[in-house]
Amino acid sequence: MLLHGTDVLKDAAAAGHAVPGFVAYNLETVQGVTAAAEACGRPVLIQAGSSPFKHAGREALMRLALDAAAHSTARLGVHLDHSRDLDEITACLEAGYTSVMVDGSHLPFTENIALTKEAVRRARDHGAWVEAELGALPGDEDVSTDAVAQATAMTDPDQAAEFVAATGVDALAVAVGNVHGFTKSPVRLDLARLAAIHQAVPVPLVLHGASGLPVEELHGALTRGVAKVNVNAELRRAYLEAVRSTLPAALPGSDAVSLWASGRDAVRDAALEVIGRLTPGAETANA
Ligand code: 13P
Repeated sequence: MLLHGTDVLKDAAAAGHAVPGFVAYNLETVQGVTAAAEACGRPVLIQAGSSPFKHAGREALMRLALDAAAHSTARLGVHLDHSRDLDEITACLEAGYTSVMVDGSHLPFTENIALTKEAVRRARDHGAWVEAELGALPGDEDVSTDAVAQATAMTDPDQAAEFVAATGVDALAVAVGNVHGFTKSPVRLDLARLAAIHQAVPVPLVLHGASGLPVEELHGALTRGVAKVNVNAELRRAYLEAVRSTLPAALPGSDAVSLWASGRDAVRDAALEVIGRLTPGAETANA
């Protein structure tokens, strides 16, 4: 069923958990993420766009994700990830997305505020919530580049307070040392900065770039206001490794279905593993 509203983020934060936002590119990744949500009974966000739209096509991927969420027994939000384009945001809102991320992190502060304010205005008309980003995250969203964090691009707590007050945004993605994709050396978050941002802003925080993040860093973030955690590269890697190991047996009979199924199941298992990490101390499903 489609999951509306920000209560899910607030409840997760209050319980010391986080809601996972999993990036989905195609049928198998949408199916794998949906199956993980059904298996664990916890709320999950399918992040279908905007980079994956370049692969699958916007209409096709939007419909796929919305249909999977609407017909599932699990609580699934459908979220537009990293959009810089108000027309794209409007298209997703009109299609029924439950949340959107407007990414003005590349813009000067006042322009980021203006873009985010407009996205919030449009989302309100559709009952959707909005995530925005302040500070810049190193790395690529689709390919792991072993990027390293740039201290200068980190989110400033005072600016964050001003930004949230000026835009009315519902959730804020922060740059506190987090990096998109895998890195050779373990990422260390600036947890003191994260705590200061949490003190300064009244909305749930979002941690992008959680693939490969050491679990102690992740759990440190969960106790400092992070209520949504984005993961992409871990699912991509799981998919590719499963496909590689299935390929030799699939190739002689051109058995593409077994190949795609192995990728789908690997995405499900990887997503379940992430969900376990995001739920410190949870003993039962539906907690
Ligand atoms: P990773 O690239 O670390 O998987 O993070 C995904 C993400 O933040 C998507 O917005």
